[in-house]
Amino acid sequence: MKSAIDDAVARVLAHCQFIQGPEVHVLEAELAAFCGARHAIGCASGTDALLLVLMAWQIGPGDAVICPSFTYHATAEMVALLGATPIIADVLPDTFNLDPASCERAIATAKRLGLNPRAIIPVDLFGLPADHDAIAAIAAEHRLLVLDDAAQAFGASYRGRRLGTMATATATSFFPAKPLGCYGDGGAVFTDDDALAARVKSIRLHGEGVDRSEAARIGITGRLDTIQAAVLIEKLKIFPDEIEARNRVAARYSAALADIAIVPHIGNQSTSVWAQYTVRLKPGRRDRVAAALKTEGVPTAIYYSKPLHRQPAYRRFPIANGGVPVSDRLADEVLSLPMHAYLEPPVQDRIIDAVRRNLDGSSH
Ligand SMILES: Cc1ncc(COP(=O)(O)O)c(C=O)c1O
Repeated sequence: MKSAIDDAVARVLAHCQFIQGPEVHVLEAELAAFCGARHAIGCASGTDALLLVLMAWQIGPGDAVICPSFTYHATAEMVALLGATPIIADVLPDTFNLDPASCERAIATAKRLGLNPRAIIPVDLFGLPADHDAIAAIAAEHRLLVLDDAAQAFGASYRGRRLGTMATATATSFFPAKPLGCYGDGGAVFTDDDALAARVKSIRLHGEGVDRSEAARIGITGRLDTIQAAVLIEKLKIFPDEIEARNRVAARYSAALADIAIVPHIGNQSTSVWAQYTVRLKPGRRDRVAAALKTEGVPTAIYYSKPLHRQPAYRRFPIANGGVPVSDRLADEVLSLPMHAYLEPPVQDRIIDAVRRNLDGSSH
Protein backbone atom coordinates (compact mmCIF):
# COMPACT_ATOMS: atom_id res chain seq x y z
CA MET A 1 0.00 0.00 0.00
CA LYS A 2 3.07 2.20 0.14
CA SER A 3 2.34 4.51 -2.78
CA ALA A 4 -1.36 4.92 -1.95
CA ILE A 5 -0.58 5.80 1.65
CA ASP A 6 2.38 8.03 0.74
CA ASP A 7 0.14 9.93 -1.68
CA ALA A 8 -2.67 10.23 0.87
CA VAL A 9 -0.30 11.61 3.51
CA ALA A 10 1.30 13.94 0.94
CA ARG A 11 -2.13 15.40 0.15
CA VAL A 12 -2.56 16.32 3.83
CA LEU A 13 0.93 17.84 3.95
CA ALA A 14 -0.06 19.95 0.93
CA HIS A 15 -3.39 21.24 2.24
CA CYS A 16 -2.14 21.57 5.82
CA GLN A 17 -5.52 21.04 7.50
CA PHE A 18 -3.95 18.81 10.10
CA ILE A 19 -6.85 19.14 12.54
CA GLN A 20 -10.41 18.24 11.44
CA GLY A 21 -9.32 18.29 7.80
CA PRO A 22 -11.47 16.95 4.94
CA GLU A 23 -10.09 13.40 5.30
CA VAL A 24 -11.55 13.18 8.81
CA HIS A 25 -15.05 13.84 7.50
CA VAL A 26 -14.62 11.46 4.56
CA LEU A 27 -13.38 8.72 6.87
CA GLU A 28 -16.23 9.26 9.33
CA ALA A 29 -18.78 8.86 6.54
CA GLU A 30 -17.04 5.73 5.26
CA LEU A 31 -16.76 4.16 8.72
CA ALA A 32 -20.44 4.82 9.38
CA ALA A 33 -21.40 3.26 6.05
CA PHE A 34 -19.09 0.30 6.69
CA CYS A 35 -20.83 -0.71 9.91
CA GLY A 36 -24.29 0.77 9.36
CA ALA A 37 -24.18 3.23 12.24
CA ARG A 38 -25.80 6.67 11.89
CA HIS A 39 -22.75 8.39 13.33
CA ALA A 40 -19.05 7.59 13.31
CA ILE A 41 -16.94 10.11 15.20
CA GLY A 42 -13.17 9.94 14.81
CA CYS A 43 -11.16 10.50 17.96
CA ALA A 44 -7.62 10.34 19.28
CA SER A 45 -7.58 6.75 20.59
CA GLY A 46 -9.77 3.88 21.71
CA THR A 47 -9.36 5.12 25.26
CA ASP A 48 -10.65 8.56 24.26
CA ALA A 49 -13.56 6.90 22.48
CA LEU A 50 -14.55 5.27 25.78
CA LEU A 51 -13.93 8.50 27.70
CA LEU A 52 -15.96 10.68 25.33
CA VAL A 53 -19.03 8.47 25.69
CA LEU A 54 -18.73 8.12 29.47
CA MET A 55 -18.34 11.92 29.76
CA ALA A 56 -21.33 12.47 27.49
CA TRP A 57 -23.37 10.23 29.79
CA GLN A 58 -22.05 12.17 32.81
CA ILE A 59 -20.80 9.03 34.50
CA GLY A 60 -19.08 9.96 37.75
CA PRO A 61 -18.71 9.37 41.48
CA GLY A 62 -21.41 7.12 42.92
CA ASP A 63 -21.99 5.44 39.57
CA ALA A 64 -21.10 1.82 38.84
CA VAL A 65 -20.11 0.45 35.43
CA ILE A 66 -19.89 -3.29 34.82
CA CYS A 67 -16.64 -4.40 33.11
CA PRO A 68 -15.30 -7.89 32.41
CA SER A 69 -12.14 -8.93 34.23
CA PHE A 70 -10.55 -10.70 31.27
CA THR A 71 -9.73 -7.71 29.08
CA TYR A 72 -7.08 -5.12 28.44
CA HIS A 73 -7.29 -2.82 31.45
CA ALA A 74 -8.08 0.24 29.31
CA THR A 75 -11.68 -1.04 29.31
CA ALA A 76 -12.14 0.10 32.93
CA GLU A 77 -9.60 2.91 32.99
CA MET A 78 -11.82 5.82 32.00
CA VAL A 79 -14.57 4.65 34.34
CA ALA A 80 -12.10 4.90 37.21
CA LEU A 81 -10.63 8.17 35.90
CA LEU A 82 -14.08 9.77 36.04
CA GLY A 83 -14.46 8.73 39.67
CA ALA A 84 -17.04 6.04 38.97
CA THR A 85 -16.62 2.45 40.17
CA PRO A 86 -15.90 -0.40 37.76
CA ILE A 87 -17.60 -3.56 39.00
CA ILE A 88 -15.59 -6.49 37.75
CA ALA A 89 -17.54 -9.38 36.23
CA ASP A 90 -16.47 -12.76 34.89
CA VAL A 91 -16.31 -14.02 31.31
CA LEU A 92 -17.46 -17.17 29.55
CA PRO A 93 -14.88 -19.94 29.13
CA ASP A 94 -15.58 -20.52 25.43
CA THR A 95 -15.75 -16.98 24.00
CA PHE A 96 -13.73 -15.17 26.73
CA ASN A 97 -16.46 -12.49 26.62
CA LEU A 98 -18.66 -11.04 29.37
CA ASP A 99 -20.76 -13.71 31.09
CA PRO A 100 -24.35 -12.39 31.19
CA ALA A 101 -25.04 -14.23 34.47
CA SER A 102 -22.00 -12.65 36.12
CA CYS A 103 -23.06 -9.29 34.67
CA GLU A 104 -26.43 -9.68 36.47
CA ARG A 105 -24.61 -10.51 39.69
CA ALA A 106 -22.37 -7.46 39.23
CA ILE A 107 -25.44 -5.21 39.04
CA ALA A 108 -26.71 -6.71 42.31
CA THR A 109 -23.25 -6.24 43.84
CA ALA A 110 -23.24 -2.57 42.81
CA LYS A 111 -26.64 -2.00 44.43
CA ARG A 112 -25.59 -3.82 47.59
CA LEU A 113 -22.64 -1.42 47.84
CA GLY A 114 -24.96 1.56 47.56
CA LEU A 115 -23.75 2.46 44.08
CA ASN A 116 -25.92 3.48 41.15
CA PRO A 117 -25.47 1.03 38.25
CA ARG A 118 -25.39 3.15 35.08
CA ALA A 119 -23.75 1.19 32.29
CA ILE A 120 -22.27 -2.08 31.06
CA ILE A 121 -19.07 -2.21 28.99
CA PRO A 122 -18.98 -5.55 27.16
CA VAL A 123 -15.72 -6.20 25.32
CA ASP A 124 -15.50 -7.97 21.96
CA LEU A 125 -12.33 -9.69 23.00
CA PHE A 126 -9.69 -10.70 20.46
CA GLY A 127 -12.04 -9.62 17.66
CA LEU A 128 -15.06 -11.76 18.60
CA PRO A 129 -18.39 -10.06 19.41
CA ALA A 130 -19.76 -10.45 22.92
CA ASP A 131 -23.24 -11.90 23.51
CA HIS A 132 -24.90 -8.58 22.67
CA ASP A 133 -28.51 -9.82 22.72
CA ALA A 134 -28.17 -11.15 26.25
CA ILE A 135 -26.41 -7.99 27.41
CA ALA A 136 -29.02 -5.74 25.77
CA ALA A 137 -31.78 -7.67 27.56
CA ILE A 138 -30.07 -7.19 30.94
CA ALA A 139 -29.50 -3.50 30.18
CA ALA A 140 -33.16 -3.04 29.24
CA GLU A 141 -34.34 -4.78 32.40
CA HIS A 142 -32.15 -2.63 34.67
CA ARG A 143 -32.33 0.55 32.53
CA LEU A 144 -28.59 0.64 31.92
CA LEU A 145 -26.60 2.09 29.06
CA VAL A 146 -24.33 -0.19 27.04
CA LEU A 147 -20.95 0.96 25.73
CA ASP A 148 -19.49 -1.72 23.48
CA ASP A 149 -15.69 -1.83 23.78
CA ALA A 150 -14.95 -2.98 20.23
CA ALA A 151 -11.34 -1.73 20.39
CA GLN A 152 -10.18 -5.12 19.10
CA ALA A 153 -13.14 -5.97 16.92
CA PHE A 154 -14.11 -3.31 14.41
CA GLY A 155 -15.23 -5.16 11.28
CA ALA A 156 -16.58 -8.20 13.14
CA SER A 157 -20.25 -9.06 12.87
CA TYR A 158 -22.95 -10.29 15.21
CA ARG A 159 -26.13 -11.85 13.82
CA GLY A 160 -25.33 -10.56 10.34
CA ARG A 161 -24.55 -6.96 11.33
CA ARG A 162 -21.15 -5.36 11.79
CA LEU A 163 -20.28 -4.08 15.26
CA GLY A 164 -21.11 -0.41 15.69
CA THR A 165 -24.83 -0.67 16.33
CA MET A 166 -25.12 -3.45 18.96
CA ALA A 167 -25.06 -1.03 21.87
CA THR A 168 -26.10 2.53 22.68
CA ALA A 169 -22.54 3.47 21.77
CA THR A 170 -19.53 1.59 20.44
CA ALA A 171 -15.87 2.49 20.88
CA THR A 172 -13.04 1.26 18.69
CA SER A 173 -9.29 1.73 18.42
CA PHE A 174 -7.07 2.21 15.39
CA PHE A 175 -3.86 1.52 17.35
CA PRO A 176 -1.38 0.15 14.76
CA ALA A 177 -1.66 -3.45 15.96
CA LYS A 178 -5.47 -3.50 15.77
CA PRO A 179 -7.14 -5.24 12.79
CA LEU A 180 -7.76 -1.79 11.25
CA GLY A 181 -4.71 0.12 12.42
CA CYS A 182 -3.41 3.59 11.58
CA TYR A 183 0.13 4.96 11.82
CA GLY A 184 -0.13 6.19 15.37
CA ASP A 185 -3.03 6.50 17.81
CA GLY A 186 -6.62 6.80 16.67
CA GLY A 187 -10.12 5.64 17.49
CA ALA A 188 -13.80 6.19 16.82
CA VAL A 189 -17.19 6.30 18.51
CA PHE A 190 -20.25 4.87 16.77
CA THR A 191 -23.86 5.55 17.70
CA ASP A 192 -27.34 5.84 16.27
CA ASP A 193 -28.27 8.37 18.96
CA ASP A 194 -28.22 11.90 17.48
CA ALA A 195 -28.11 13.69 20.82
CA LEU A 196 -25.26 11.50 22.06
CA ALA A 197 -23.33 12.07 18.82
CA ALA A 198 -23.68 15.84 19.21
CA ARG A 199 -22.40 15.72 22.79
CA VAL A 200 -19.47 13.46 21.88
CA LYS A 201 -18.49 15.80 19.03
CA SER A 202 -18.60 18.77 21.36
CA ILE A 203 -16.58 17.07 24.13
CA ARG A 204 -14.02 15.99 21.53
CA LEU A 205 -13.46 19.71 20.74
CA HIS A 206 -12.97 21.14 24.23
CA GLY A 207 -16.72 21.20 24.85
CA GLU A 208 -17.37 23.48 21.87
CA GLY A 209 -20.81 25.15 21.89
CA VAL A 210 -22.49 27.16 19.14
CA ASP A 211 -19.04 27.97 17.77
CA ARG A 212 -15.38 27.67 18.74
CA SER A 213 -15.56 30.65 21.07
CA GLU A 214 -18.12 28.98 23.32
CA ALA A 215 -17.38 26.27 25.87
CA ALA A 216 -20.76 24.66 26.41
CA ARG A 217 -19.35 21.88 28.61
CA ILE A 218 -16.05 20.51 29.88
CA GLY A 219 -14.29 18.62 27.10
CA ILE A 220 -10.91 17.31 26.00
CA THR A 221 -8.57 17.41 22.99
CA GLY A 222 -9.95 14.18 21.61
CA ARG A 223 -9.66 14.58 17.83
CA LEU A 224 -8.35 12.16 15.24
CA ASP A 225 -5.41 13.67 13.29
CA THR A 226 -6.12 14.30 9.61
CA ILE A 227 -2.98 12.36 8.64
CA GLN A 228 -4.29 9.30 10.48
CA ALA A 229 -7.66 9.67 8.76
CA ALA A 230 -5.88 9.78 5.39
CA VAL A 231 -4.05 6.54 6.21
CA LEU A 232 -7.26 4.88 7.41
CA ILE A 233 -9.20 5.82 4.26
CA GLU A 234 -6.64 3.83 2.24
CA LYS A 235 -6.52 0.92 4.67
CA LEU A 236 -10.31 0.68 4.88
CA LYS A 237 -10.36 -0.08 1.13
CA ILE A 238 -8.52 -3.37 1.66
CA PHE A 239 -9.96 -4.12 5.10
CA PRO A 240 -12.67 -6.58 3.91
CA ASP A 241 -10.01 -8.59 2.06
CA GLU A 242 -7.79 -8.51 5.12
CA ILE A 243 -10.62 -9.77 7.31
CA GLU A 244 -11.10 -12.68 4.92
CA ALA A 245 -7.38 -13.42 4.96
CA ARG A 246 -7.32 -13.39 8.76
CA ASN A 247 -10.23 -15.82 8.79
CA ARG A 248 -8.34 -18.15 6.45
CA VAL A 249 -5.32 -18.04 8.77
CA ALA A 250 -7.54 -18.75 11.79
CA ALA A 251 -9.29 -21.65 10.06
CA ARG A 252 -5.93 -23.21 9.19
CA TYR A 253 -4.71 -22.91 12.77
CA SER A 254 -7.90 -24.43 14.15
CA ALA A 255 -7.85 -27.35 11.71
CA ALA A 256 -4.24 -28.10 12.60
CA LEU A 257 -4.39 -27.63 16.37
CA ALA A 258 -7.88 -28.67 17.51
CA ASP A 259 -6.70 -32.12 18.63
CA ILE A 260 -3.94 -30.82 20.92
CA ALA A 261 -5.25 -27.49 22.28
CA ILE A 262 -8.57 -25.77 22.96
CA VAL A 263 -8.97 -23.63 19.86
CA PRO A 264 -11.19 -20.50 19.65
CA HIS A 265 -14.94 -20.97 19.63
CA ILE A 266 -16.79 -18.60 17.31
CA GLY A 267 -20.32 -20.00 17.21
CA ASN A 268 -22.67 -19.45 14.30
CA GLN A 269 -23.99 -16.01 15.22
CA SER A 270 -20.71 -14.12 14.92
CA THR A 271 -17.67 -13.55 12.77
CA SER A 272 -14.35 -12.52 14.25
CA VAL A 273 -11.69 -10.16 12.90
CA TRP A 274 -9.05 -12.13 14.80
CA ALA A 275 -7.20 -9.38 16.59
CA GLN A 276 -5.65 -12.38 18.30
CA TYR A 277 -5.67 -16.11 17.65
CA THR A 278 -5.63 -17.54 21.17
CA VAL A 279 -5.54 -21.17 22.25
CA ARG A 280 -5.91 -22.62 25.73
CA LEU A 281 -3.29 -25.01 27.02
CA LYS A 282 -3.04 -26.91 30.27
CA PRO A 283 -1.86 -24.66 33.11
CA GLY A 284 1.84 -25.19 33.75
CA ARG A 285 2.33 -26.35 30.19
CA ARG A 286 1.65 -22.94 28.64
CA ASP A 287 4.75 -21.12 29.86
CA ARG A 288 7.07 -23.96 28.85
CA VAL A 289 5.56 -24.08 25.37
CA ALA A 290 5.85 -20.30 24.97
CA ALA A 291 9.52 -20.42 26.04
CA ALA A 292 10.27 -23.30 23.66
CA LEU A 293 8.58 -21.48 20.76
CA LYS A 294 10.61 -18.37 21.51
CA THR A 295 13.86 -20.31 21.18
CA GLU A 296 12.63 -21.50 17.78
CA GLY A 297 11.96 -17.92 16.69
CA VAL A 298 8.17 -18.16 16.97
CA PRO A 299 6.83 -15.16 18.88
CA THR A 300 3.79 -15.66 21.08
CA ALA A 301 2.02 -13.44 23.62
CA ILE A 302 -0.06 -13.94 26.73
CA TYR A 303 -3.18 -11.81 26.72
CA TYR A 304 -3.90 -11.50 29.63
CA SER A 305 -1.65 -12.86 32.32
CA LYS A 306 -3.18 -10.41 34.81
CA PRO A 307 -6.93 -9.96 34.51
CA LEU A 308 -8.36 -6.66 35.75
CA HIS A 309 -9.00 -7.79 39.32
CA ARG A 310 -5.31 -8.78 39.70
CA GLN A 311 -3.93 -5.49 38.38
CA PRO A 312 -2.40 -3.31 41.09
CA ALA A 313 -4.40 -0.29 39.92
CA TYR A 314 -7.73 -2.15 39.87
CA ARG A 315 -7.48 -4.57 42.81
CA ARG A 316 -9.44 -2.17 45.01
CA PHE A 317 -12.56 -2.32 42.85
CA PRO A 318 -15.47 -4.63 43.70
CA ILE A 319 -15.82 -8.04 42.09
CA ALA A 320 -19.23 -9.39 41.16
CA ASN A 321 -20.79 -11.78 43.64
CA GLY A 322 -19.65 -15.29 42.70
CA GLY A 323 -16.15 -14.14 41.82
CA VAL A 324 -14.28 -14.35 38.53
CA PRO A 325 -12.94 -17.93 38.44
CA VAL A 326 -13.03 -18.20 34.65
CA SER A 327 -10.87 -15.09 34.22
CA ASP A 328 -8.35 -16.54 36.66
CA ARG A 329 -8.27 -19.85 34.82
CA LEU A 330 -7.88 -18.25 31.40
CA ALA A 331 -4.97 -16.13 32.65
CA ASP A 332 -3.04 -19.37 33.29
CA GLU A 333 -4.01 -21.10 30.06
CA VAL A 334 -4.11 -18.67 27.13
CA LEU A 335 -1.46 -18.34 24.46
CA SER A 336 -1.79 -16.11 21.41
CA LEU A 337 -0.08 -17.21 18.22
CA PRO A 338 1.17 -14.96 15.40
CA MET A 339 -1.82 -13.61 13.47
CA HIS A 340 -2.07 -11.18 10.60
CA ALA A 341 -3.57 -11.01 7.14
CA TYR A 342 -0.26 -11.70 5.40
CA LEU A 343 0.79 -14.86 7.23
CA GLU A 344 1.69 -17.12 4.30
CA PRO A 345 0.93 -20.87 4.54
CA PRO A 346 4.60 -21.99 4.65
CA VAL A 347 5.31 -19.63 7.56
CA GLN A 348 2.13 -20.70 9.31
CA ASP A 349 3.05 -24.36 8.80
CA ARG A 350 6.34 -23.70 10.55
CA ILE A 351 4.47 -22.19 13.51
CA ILE A 352 1.97 -25.07 13.60
CA ASP A 353 4.77 -27.61 13.43
CA ALA A 354 6.62 -25.92 16.29
CA VAL A 355 3.48 -25.77 18.45
CA ARG A 356 2.66 -29.43 17.77
CA ARG A 357 6.18 -30.65 18.52
CA ASN A 358 6.33 -28.73 21.76
CA LEU A 359 2.92 -29.93 22.87
CA ASP A 360 3.52 -33.51 21.89
CA GLY A 361 2.46 -36.04 24.46
CA SER A 362 0.08 -33.71 26.28
CA SER A 363 -3.67 -33.65 25.95
CA HIS A 364 -4.43 -29.90 25.95
C1 LIG B 1 -10.19 -3.93 24.91
C2 LIG B 1 -9.49 -2.62 24.72
N1 LIG B 1 -10.08 -1.50 25.14
C3 LIG B 1 -9.52 -0.29 24.97
C4 LIG B 1 -8.30 -0.16 24.33
C5 LIG B 1 -7.70 1.21 24.22
O1 LIG B 1 -7.42 1.58 22.91
P1 LIG B 1 -6.24 2.63 22.59
O2 LIG B 1 -4.95 1.93 22.83
O3 LIG B 1 -6.46 3.02 21.18
O4 LIG B 1 -6.43 3.79 23.53
C6 LIG B 1 -7.65 -1.30 23.86
C7 LIG B 1 -6.37 -1.27 23.13
O5 LIG B 1 -5.37 -0.83 23.47
C8 LIG B 1 -8.25 -2.56 24.06
O6 LIG B 1 -7.66 -3.68 23.64
